[in-house]
Amino acid sequence: MRILTVIGARPQFVKAAPVSAALRTAHEEYLVHTGQHYDYNMSDIFFEELGLPAPDLNLGAGSGTHATQTASMIAPLERAVIAQNPDMILVYGDTNSTVAAALVAHALDVPLAHVEAGLRSYNRTMPEEINRIVTDRVSDLLFCPSQIAVENLAKEGIREGVVLTGDVMVDAVLRAVETAKQTSMIHVTLGVNAPYALLTIHRPANTDDPDALAAILSGCGGLDLPVIFPVHPRTRVAMDRAGIALPENVRLINPLGYIDMLCLLEAAEVALTDSGGLQKEAYILKTPAVTIRTETEWVETVASGWNRLVAPDAQAIVSAVAEAAHNQPETHPDYYGDGNAAERIVAALEAFVEEHHAERSGTPN
Ligand code: UD1
Repeated sequence: MRILTVIGARPQFVKAAPVSAALRTAHEEYLVHTGQHYDYNMSDIFFEELGLPAPDLNLGAGSGTHATQTASMIAPLERAVIAQNPDMILVYGDTNSTVAAALVAHALDVPLAHVEAGLRSYNRTMPEEINRIVTDRVSDLLFCPSQIAVENLAKEGIREGVVLTGDVMVDAVLRAVETAKQTSMIHVTLGVNAPYALLTIHRPANTDDPDALAAILSGCGGLDLPVIFPVHPRTRVAMDRAGIALPENVRLINPLGYIDMLCLLEAAEVALTDSGGLQKEAYILKTPAVTIRTETEWVETVASGWNRLVAPDAQAIVSAVAEAAHNQPETHPDYYGDGNAAERIVAALEAFVEEHHAERSGTPN
């Protein structure tokens, strides 16, 4: 079987690594990097640390508005798919790279598989929500990380091709966490010891509204903890533009690779974030999270008491962090699977491709 995988943004490198390893034990993978993320510490470092093979093709799409960025991927992706003639196209998550590949698969009538299908925030102002809906609509195989994702798809009438695989991020975390604890020097490099909070912010709703961004940093300034803040390039630009000063206890650092990030997260008192991936990684590592958003796709983390949603409001952030640190739940349900999602995904791809070939060879000319 020959799979053409399309990835482009930081969280997709993490998700693709375990699947790519499982796939390549018996099959061929042609890996396309759209170039959506291109800085060394937003891209290359993940390939090195996760053992993800170098891309066969990099489209160099780079930054831009959503439409420009997505459009710049579509034509070169179409050429690549025609040239490679894969059995199936494999995409991850909800970025502009995901939806670009989904549209190309549909246009060329190549079967499409979506890892992390069925996630919904029910907030249509997020570009990711539209990317997910469109991608799920045109996918032949929909790999769901959780039971709730399966139910979300059923509510939209999507039942065919849906497979509950568990979450590939569990696979990734379980593969890397021991190495992270043993080899990462990040605590020494930063000269930081527990307790501390870990902060990441990159959603436009928080970065593009100077009042929201100022309130988030002011809330962090009100914490009785050092706050380590690996800053996304967009957030750094937004802070400079808005002239937001850093509180004394907030330590701004460059974006980190996967190993250092896992190590910092595992030992953090609390994770403060608007990232989907970090909410879930925090849950897997049993680090309480405070999510600075009005809603989340990872509703199980909130229902179980390991995650709290707060508005970008300084006082609300201070209260939520205090609660998160002092009221840790006693139970930690296994919502996201056992760390073998990658194998289930490969098995489902194999079965689909075999059936598809059988159907095609059985069709009279
Ligand atoms: C994208 C995804 C988001 C995902 C996030 C992970 C979409 C719509 N959004 O958001 O779902 O959670 O990736 O990080 O696809 N930049 C650099 N260097 C880089 C990459 C980006 O400087 O290597 C800067 C550019 O100024 C760019 C900005 O960051 O304009 C935003 O990058 P972009 O890929 O457009 O969106 P993200 O915010 O990273």
